[in-house]
Amino acid sequence: MASDFDHFVSIRLLRGDQEKEEFVEYQAPYHPGQVVLDVVLELQASQANDLAVRWNCKAGKCGSCAAEINGLPKLMCMTKVSSLKNFPITIEPLRSFPLIKDLVSDVSFNYQMASKIAPFTPSENAPFVLYQKDVERSQEFRKCIECFICQDICHVIRDHPENKTRYGGPRNFVRAAEMEMHPLDKKDRRIMLKQELSIGLCNITKCCTESCPVGIRITDNAIIPLKERIADINYDPLMWLWNRIKKKNPNR
Ligand code: SF4
Ligand code: SF4
Ligand code: FES
Repeated sequence: MASDFDHFVSIRLLRGDQEKEEFVEYQAPYHPGQVVLDVVLELQASQANDLAVRWNCKAGKCGSCAAEINGLPKLMCMTKVSSLKNFPITIEPLRSFPLIKDLVSDVSFNYQMASKIAPFTPSENAPFVLYQKDVERSQEFRKCIECFICQDICHVIRDHPENKTRYGGPRNFVRAAEMEMHPLDKKDRRIMLKQELSIGLCNITKCCTESCPVGIRITDNAIIPLKERIADINYDPLMWLWNRIKKKNPNR
């Protein structure tokens, strides 16, 4: 495909809306070093003026340009054309969410789920000393740019749309972890995480972690510790002891 890199690159864009959608192939001008968003915007300016595409910062900071590039969700502004192996480049919107138009999908489900999480609630008895390791733990989660790539790739949402009414998804678990692990916060969100965001449906496949463009270790640092905290509220040491005794003496 060396010729694609001379002056043009082949690109297939999803065009349309919920009524009708199709892939349309273009030959887009390409300059070495460009990212996918550059090519899409050049295309919009020259051949597809009505193309719907969401972007803001072009610096990997706003999260709005997430799309599926050759089948994998990525930020268009952080994906170099030269890093891709398959041509034409296929670009679609995030497919786990309803299509609005072209490369734009409706991500409001993520905000609806986020609204169930109680906000930061500082304790009156907050510690006077805040340790660096506590700061770092919350700061990792605050790097989230709400691109919803992790939500798009999570199979609990993608393969089971019916879960959208009850499953928070990795982005919202990161949000909850940020506050649950904050040393100044006094709210207990564990029951909500279990019952309203169904964190138990996550089976720790780590696809979300592998796809996060800002490198948040979603599974290891947010989801697993949250699951452990939820297990704590269900653990009753007296019941555990009674079950052990019963096992040894089944006639009791
Ligand atoms: S680890 Fe859990 S939240 Fe992340 S993609 Fe897998 S099932 Fe979804
Ligand atoms: S956790 Fe990572 S992948 Fe998920 S929304 Fe935030 S930045 Fe995007
Ligand atoms: S345009 Fe802001 S992250 Fe890509």
